[in-house]
Amino acid sequence: MWKSAKHLTLLAGAAILVSNSLLMTPQVAVAADEAKPQDGKAVTEDRKKGNCVSCHDYAGAEMPGNIGPKLENMKTRYPDKADLRARIWDETKFNPNTIMPPFGKHKILSEEEIDKVVDFIHSL
Ligand code: HEC
Repeated sequence: MWKSAKHLTLLAGAAILVSNSLLMTPQVAVAADEAKPQDGKAVTEDRKKGNCVSCHDYAGAEMPGNIGPKLENMKTRYPDKADLRARIWDETKFNPNTIMPPFGKHKILSEEEIDKVVDFIHSL
């Protein structure tokens, strides 16, 4: 007898969990939307997006790495944004041994996100 009562309690617990997660879903979706990078700086620095700062330093970068070159004056180095974009899209084209992930080729970032990153890096 006690066994089935326990069963019922478990079931009720599970039902609460399910309804909680159902209730939570919209909130989680909203939070994710808010956390979605809105501009190039956010995409560049988001650890789950560009995470460029793990390898690159630039003025204002938080806890940057120094595996890659400093991302400053890229405007001078790449006056044409398309050239800068090409490096970010697939650096392996220029250096097959690079450890920089090919953000476009491997679809790590969307084309739109890459455009935003390019605009941001070009503005540094
Ligand atoms: C795992 C480390 C790593 C990550 C992450 C990384 N890079 Fe790089 N990046 C490098 C290295 C190393 C180089 C040096 C060139 C090479 O290896 O071919 C480089 C080169 C570059 C260059 C060319 C610099 C120059 O002087 O010509 C640009 C621009 C660049 N990275 C931008 C970015 C951006 C923007 C991101 C994020 C979307 C990023 N990198 C993420 C390691 C990284």
